[in-house]
Amino acid sequence: MTNYEVTPGGALKGRIRVPGDKSISHRSIMLGAIADGVTRVTGFLEGEDAISTMNVFRALGVNVEGPERGGVTVHGVGIRGLNAPNRILDCGNSGTSMRLLCGLLAGQRFNCELTGDETLRRRPMKRIAGPLGMMGARITTADGGRPPLKIAGNENLHGIDYQMPIASAQVKSSLLLAGLYARGRTCVTEPAPTRDHTERMLTAFGYPVVRNGSTACVVGGGRLTATDIEVPADISSAAFFLVGASIAPGSDLTLEHVGVNPTRTGVIDILRLMGANIELLNERLAGGEPVADIRVRHAPLTGIDIPIELVPLAIDEFPVLFIAAANAAGVTVLRDAEELRVKESDRIQVMADGMTALGIQAQPTADGMRVIGGTYGGGNVASHADHRIAMSFAMAGLRAAARITIDDCVNVATSFPGFVTLARSAGVAITERST
Ligand code: S3P
Repeated sequence: MTNYEVTPGGALKGRIRVPGDKSISHRSIMLGAIADGVTRVTGFLEGEDAISTMNVFRALGVNVEGPERGGVTVHGVGIRGLNAPNRILDCGNSGTSMRLLCGLLAGQRFNCELTGDETLRRRPMKRIAGPLGMMGARITTADGGRPPLKIAGNENLHGIDYQMPIASAQVKSSLLLAGLYARGRTCVTEPAPTRDHTERMLTAFGYPVVRNGSTACVVGGGRLTATDIEVPADISSAAFFLVGASIAPGSDLTLEHVGVNPTRTGVIDILRLMGANIELLNERLAGGEPVADIRVRHAPLTGIDIPIELVPLAIDEFPVLFIAAANAAGVTVLRDAEELRVKESDRIQVMADGMTALGIQAQPTADGMRVIGGTYGGGNVASHADHRIAMSFAMAGLRAAARITIDDCVNVATSFPGFVTLARSAGVAITERST
């Protein structure tokens, strides 16, 4: 068991670069693998989730070199070049790997099975198995629509027009990837904007994606051409520091080369509405994705009603936004975010329990949370093996009245290898203990 201990106090200062974007890293391997030619990736996230995707493609016969200081070389096998694996494909803790791979593998000529760790095996997969089934895919789930997923290969998929009932980039991406292998046109309409890295990267690989309002379409039967991918730093990892610096007096921190794709910047919008002092500097484009250096300084925060249109654009950042709310004057209310209950943990309940343990007034609701800002103490917090819960409470320590101990932090390595070292270098008094 790996625990964190955070001693109160401290300010965040200097310039840091957080690891590469997880969503973009996964997609660079997936699209590189089925492209013609060699794709060179820089800035790749050397976290366990992205490595799970890499290992799945190795099992499918793709030569992937690296990662070596963020560098990965993918020797593409072409759209029809994947081979039948001789083992079950293990997605580890990664929902993105499982959902996107299921779409990509549904239209192959071979059978395969996808599984994952205990946490992933509890997560819902009907959201992809259902619509993929409408395309002709033959996917069997375990009880309750959970993993493992058995996929019977079918080279006769056909395109569909799908209206997503939930705003999910994973569902959208899974269907678009299946659409590459389907007859005709596959269109996905989203009820609210979600991250569009799949659409952007397909375009970068020379595969046309037609976007019409909230609908994205691909026509099957095309090919992808290898390209170089520069992965920006992950705004979801930067988010911990955006909140940490906002709440810790005396902070002045710059986060370098962060991806600021507008489908990901809800955390900045929400923090600004709360009064945060966040500046985007040196805005530029890198590999088809907008990036910037982000300067954040301490500022007094005020509670808000979080606008519901920002929810999908900040979906991974709510654990740490609840910590911002705990340090804000007044009440913060989140609604329309029931998706948080089916992430790596039930992030509404687990955050409410941890915050309550510290003496923060946090009232969970079916689809969100009500947090009353104020002072809080220390104590023991259960992370439920959820990386983002662990890192969020690490930032809470900056303003706690006493030491916080966070249990079961080993999964921080899924998205943020080196978190403790980087957080310490920025000014968080955090230590890691293995028991
Ligand atoms: C992701 C989409 C989001 C997000 C996840 C990564 C992606 O999930 O929570 O961490 O890379 O497409 P949903 O699309 O299910 O909300």
